[in-house]
Amino acid sequence: MTKVGQITVGSLLQRLSAAGRQKMAMPADSSVPQGLEPLTERLSRNKVTRVALAFLDANAGMHLKDLLLDATTDDRRATIDGHTVWNFGSDSFLGLDRHPRIHEAISEALPAWGAHNGASRAFSSPVLVDEAEEKLAAWLGVPDTFIYPSVTLANVGLLPAITQPGDLLVVDRESHDSVHQGAKLAAAAGARVVELTAPDPRLLERVVSQAGSHAGLVLAIDGVYSMSGRTPPLAELDATVRSLGGIMYVDDAHGTGVVGPRGRGAAAEALGTLDNVLMVGSLSKAFSCLGGFVTCTPELKTILKIRSSTFIFGGPVPPPYLAAISAVCDIMMSQEYDVILEALHERIRRFTAGLDAIGIEHHGGDSAIISLVVGDMEKTFAAGRQLFDRGYYAQSATYPAVPIHGGLLRVQINAIHPLEAIDGLLNAVEDVWKQSRLPRRRAAATS
Ligand SMILES: Cc1ncc(COP(=O)(O)O)c(C=O)c1O
Repeated sequence: MTKVGQITVGSLLQRLSAAGRQKMAMPADSSVPQGLEPLTERLSRNKVTRVALAFLDANAGMHLKDLLLDATTDDRRATIDGHTVWNFGSDSFLGLDRHPRIHEAISEALPAWGAHNGASRAFSSPVLVDEAEEKLAAWLGVPDTFIYPSVTLANVGLLPAITQPGDLLVVDRESHDSVHQGAKLAAAAGARVVELTAPDPRLLERVVSQAGSHAGLVLAIDGVYSMSGRTPPLAELDATVRSLGGIMYVDDAHGTGVVGPRGRGAAAEALGTLDNVLMVGSLSKAFSCLGGFVTCTPELKTILKIRSSTFIFGGPVPPPYLAAISAVCDIMMSQEYDVILEALHERIRRFTAGLDAIGIEHHGGDSAIISLVVGDMEKTFAAGRQLFDRGYYAQSATYPAVPIHGGLLRVQINAIHPLEAIDGLLNAVEDVWKQSRLPRRRAAATS
């Protein structure tokens, strides 16, 4: 946990090295060290851990990681350690976490179904899960959907379930970590996994041809890249993978509810239909509930239930949240959604136009993620801290989430942000960029 401006991990390295010295000083005949301390000490000697701990120490009070929010408001302010900021770090893009219908759905389901069903879905589920999956399918215009407790658990459960020995799984490098973790399990189960270093259809053709013969072919990729907010060329990649006899698997966590017709996501926007793709959506971001889902047919769902270990051995989405998912689907299909989405897009347009006017390089904007280019890792943390001190919180995205010199300030626009908060953020960004001489687009750099 990081309290703003305080060093909290600083003493950890010191304590661990003191523990190490003490251990070395132990007489040879003393008992074998046991418990959590030797484990912690051994892990702390790992090179990556040491570098990360040292980095956290050096940047304590600057990196704004692992924050604790003491209070939040309906218009997306957050109080952290006595300091109130506009929170531009929430992916509850539509603000449905504050919507009375969602609160009502949760509190009505709670007395009827309890806080948790207490069983793996492989054993039993409240009927609410069927209702939620049907409503999701109706909203997306697909035959069926299959809910997991998170997108991570969907990716880790699905990728080994949809591939088998002899198959080729191509994974876009910029995909979310959980896609890569799922691919590791698919590889362990016998599929051949290769990385696509850029979302380029020609490169995809080359990679598949170099991989040689295979049975099934799957391309796993994000619909909206979570750090930059950029969208890969899904239509071209889909045409290529289908010409090679394969299918695209799109983790559309950040597109769900925000991008495309009625918020059906980046894949629906690019392809026009979700018929020939496996689209994984999030129920935790724009939906403000909990979970993830994949589009499928009833027949495929039956097979996925047999082959997906996170479904069989893991717990479910709690019943009140299943009720909330159905309530969000009702909103998605209503005219109210048009109003909420327009509010979000108005804010996205206002922010990106403002950035263009002051010459700040940025990515994204097709979704609610807009990432400001900083570059250097320490400058990225410093810019995040300076914005925070001016009353605005945005996330500093640094290596390994982005390339080593590709630091970004990741701003997430929400439909419930007041317009004055967007304008205030733009002023603060301009001020920080000027003060710290951060990179700007050439044309506006002189202002
Ligand atoms: C593209 C993508 N996939 C998966 C996840 C993980 O989602 P969850 O929190 O539901 O596990 C994220 C989270 O930010 C994401 O951006």
